[in-house]
Amino acid sequence: MKKDSLAVYKRLLRYSRAYLPRIIIAMIASLGVAASDVAVAKLVQPLVDHVLAPGGEAFIRFVPMIVIGLALLKGGSRYVQEFYIKTAGQLVVQDLRNDLYAHTLRLSMGFYSRVQSGTLVSRIINDVATLQKSAADELVAVVREGLTLIGLVVLLFYNDWRLALVAFVVLPVAIVPATYIGRRIKRYVRKSLVNIGNLTGILQEAFGGIKVVKAFGTEEHEKQRFEVENHNYYRRVAKMIRYDSASSPIVELLSSFGAAGVLWHGLNRVLQGHITQGELLSFITAMGMMYGPLKRLVKTNNVIQKAVGAAERVFSMMDTPVDLDDAPTAQALGKVKGHVVFEHVDFGYAAEGTAAELADNSTAGYAGKLVMHDFNLDVKPGTTVALVGASGAGKSTVIGLLARFYDPINGKITIDGKDISRVTQRSLKQQIALVDQEIFLFHDTIANNIRYAKLDASDAEVWHALELAYAADFIQQMPQGLETVIGDRGVRLSGGQRQRLSIARAILRDASILLLDEATSALDTQSETVVQDALENLMRGRTTFVIAHRLSTVMHADEILVMRDGRIFERGSHAELFAGKGYYFDLHQTQFNG
Ligand SMILES: Nc1ncnc2c1ncn2[C@@H]1O[C@H](COP(=O)(O)OP(=O)(O)O)[C@@H](O)[C@H]1O
Ligand SMILES: [Mg+2]
Repeated sequence: MKKDSLAVYKRLLRYSRAYLPRIIIAMIASLGVAASDVAVAKLVQPLVDHVLAPGGEAFIRFVPMIVIGLALLKGGSRYVQEFYIKTAGQLVVQDLRNDLYAHTLRLSMGFYSRVQSGTLVSRIINDVATLQKSAADELVAVVREGLTLIGLVVLLFYNDWRLALVAFVVLPVAIVPATYIGRRIKRYVRKSLVNIGNLTGILQEAFGGIKVVKAFGTEEHEKQRFEVENHNYYRRVAKMIRYDSASSPIVELLSSFGAAGVLWHGLNRVLQGHITQGELLSFITAMGMMYGPLKRLVKTNNVIQKAVGAAERVFSMMDTPVDLDDAPTAQALGKVKGHVVFEHVDFGYAAEGTAAELADNSTAGYAGKLVMHDFNLDVKPGTTVALVGASGAGKSTVIGLLARFYDPINGKITIDGKDISRVTQRSLKQQIALVDQEIFLFHDTIANNIRYAKLDASDAEVWHALELAYAADFIQQMPQGLETVIGDRGVRLSGGQRQRLSIARAILRDASILLLDEATSALDTQSETVVQDALENLMRGRTTFVIAHRLSTVMHADEILVMRDGRIFERGSHAELFAGKGYYFDLHQTQFNG
């Protein structure tokens, strides 16, 4: 446990290194703050013993100047210190958040299918925010209060080491409860961040699926789900508050023992003439000033434990291995002709692993089951292969493997003879255009949504793609045309319109390999025929994988694969399969009779 915390500190320090100058300035300013406090305690003695003594009138006019001067020193130093340390903290957090997001984006589809996106959002926003609030703002307090404390301690021993010893019996006793409290707080902050993650998840689901909520009228259910989790969060935080609130009173109580001892012993020593009244007063002032920083240090420890709790979660996410990384020797795939080969491919969706540990509430449950068995396929450049079969047969999985969302367990997939797991992912994706069955449009303009396929595409290119996808008409009718902002889930468009936009996006991509997963399922028969024509134009000269329920759209494929439970059940051209009177024939019959 202790070693873990140490590792976390070290990593945080490594992030701070870039902002060392700011931190050093803040530290120097801390010296000013500490020095002015110590000076106040020290000056009490000459004030009592000399200024208030006979002949001290000459010094009185200096007193206000000293008071104001010290206040200026303290105020100025404090400002400099706070500004530099807080900005340094923010900069560290900014880097940390950027790194965390960048790392998260590199994780595979497998990871994303196992972890709820709301909890990921929460790690990047809330965990880092907790870390920031704690670490950045409080780290400097340690330095400042620590320096003040050291200065005052030195002064105490300098004034009267016997009295100082009495005062210090308290210190070690105060440390024990402080560390205990700190550990508790760390634990509850980690737990409370899990709750925050769950809260974010619930919100994201409710807003993302608001149509389902509204359709089923389950607002009350969603409200309760949220309230329960919100209360769980409160309970965690309340525990934290309990420990946090106890820390100052405990230190104060322990301090009173020290104060009582010092007063009793000190007054005796004054009466016996060992020390002057001024020295005792200076001593008591210093001691009084010392317990302030001590209390704050204990509090600061609490806050720092919160930061460590949050940092542990942040770093554990940052340490999630990138399961689908480019090989060190990976080369760019380059422009391909589109010769796609699957060789003895076995595949199953993994459930266990890092993501499951990371997920605050993992949705695992598919462990070990193969969904693709000894899959073999050879698609010549520019030809079309159609995948048909019942839902769950594994059609989308074939496309997902080719897009390298996942790696096969056995066997390999090659494009133009190159193993796709040996080329850079970026270069592979550049050769692929996907129209997925789940259409996602960004909360952005239509133009930018289409341009997502080619970020530097001109308006003319965008319009051309839209025309080919038969989407130009309805966009022209919109008041702002290409610049119309569509909702984050494209709610202001019909299903068919959304599908046409996603087809336009694939057209703009102009890739050698085209993957169409139920690309026309949301279109009515009439527009499907038109879009089908557009797609056929597009497919010419490109290697195409097409998944469609309507057999009319797959009839013209060069090869049709009938899939069943992750295996190719029948294969051939439409004519061959139809003549074979097998599964394909049956499918055909039911569709046209039904
Ligand atoms: N992300 C996933 N995690 C775990 N199992 C999955 C995942 N996606 C699909 N499956 C499972 O893999 C099998 C094949 O699914 P899929 O390829 O989507 O079928 P199809 O596209 O033919 O309907 C199904 O049994 C499905 O439950
Ligand atoms: Mg599918």
